[in-house]
Amino acid sequence: MAEIGQNIDEAIRVLKNGELVGIPTETVYGLAGNALDPEVVLKIFEVKKRPAFDPLIVHIGNHKALDELILKIPVKAVKLASVFWPGPLTLILPKQKIIPDVVTSGLPTVAIRMPDHPLTLSLLNSLPFPLAAPSANPFGYVSPTTAQHVADQLGQKISYILDGGECDIGIESTIIGFEGEDPVIYRLGGKSVEEIEDTVGKIRAIQTSSSRPAAPGMLLSHYAPGEKKVFLGQWEQYRKILERDETVLIRFRKPDPDFPPDRQAILSERGDLREAAKNLFTTLRRFDAPGITYIVAELMPEEGFGRAINDRLRRAATLE
Ligand code: TXA
Ligand code: MG
Repeated sequence: MAEIGQNIDEAIRVLKNGELVGIPTETVYGLAGNALDPEVVLKIFEVKKRPAFDPLIVHIGNHKALDELILKIPVKAVKLASVFWPGPLTLILPKQKIIPDVVTSGLPTVAIRMPDHPLTLSLLNSLPFPLAAPSANPFGYVSPTTAQHVADQLGQKISYILDGGECDIGIESTIIGFEGEDPVIYRLGGKSVEEIEDTVGKIRAIQTSSSRPAAPGMLLSHYAPGEKKVFLGQWEQYRKILERDETVLIRFRKPDPDFPPDRQAILSERGDLREAAKNLFTTLRRFDAPGITYIVAELMPEEGFGRAINDRLRRAATLE
């Protein structure tokens, strides 16, 4: 069983030894290994049971580290990196040879970000290599937001988890790619579209696709809590098909007065979408429990973090 602790030296030792470590970030916990060693990167795919076509994000601890990893960088990418790093924004950029093809699933581009977490930044800046780290969950499951979540699911397969407390943001980074010089949103996440547009102007989002996604995180059936069926909307809509005592509700600010209060989770009583994002994955995990079959989730307002939350809910929702 993995040890959980705050010992950076131990994390360094394990990583230098070519093994994997669970790391905290401000978004979700990552399953990290030496991004420059193909054998180590393969272990990441194995542990997560992640299909080889789904490329990984490479994490760096300072701006200088970008130089040896990237070929050329669009002007707006420089701007975004300087404004939002460290932070919940991933940039897709043309890679140098030093990054093994297994990291990028053979793509000529690599996803890079500088996470905003003191322990992980100091870890990254103490290592002679960047860290490839997907979210530390089995492929297709909800991302972990505490060290214990990582231990619960991957604890048998890794030896150390660096405990940085509960993730501040609780939803994965926003991913931005480039078409020539133009930024394009690949995945909604911890940095809102509004904030990004304030920096680089109007930006286009690529369409979500279930067959040929530009980023496989765009796959529709992702972020699902185990075998539970997730429905979106108001529970009355599903009254006929759902057994009340196997059903729970996820609501934004207020409980539904016609439904038992002990089977409802409120994401943010004060109506704060940032707080709601932070509570989303923990709530989905909590409801992935015996005795619960159906989760009916209310959609958030389509603004700021609300968009990223709705994106995750739609992906978790049962496709019918
Ligand atoms: O917040 C986060 O981004 C977390 C923390 C640990 O940093 N990481 C994370 O990684 O969410 P992961 O592997 O669960 O999601 C990364 C997404 C995947 O959907 C992958 O397809 C996409 O990034 N991606 C990676 N490289 C790409 C590339 N070259 N082009 C397009 N998409 C890429
Ligand atoms: Mg993931």
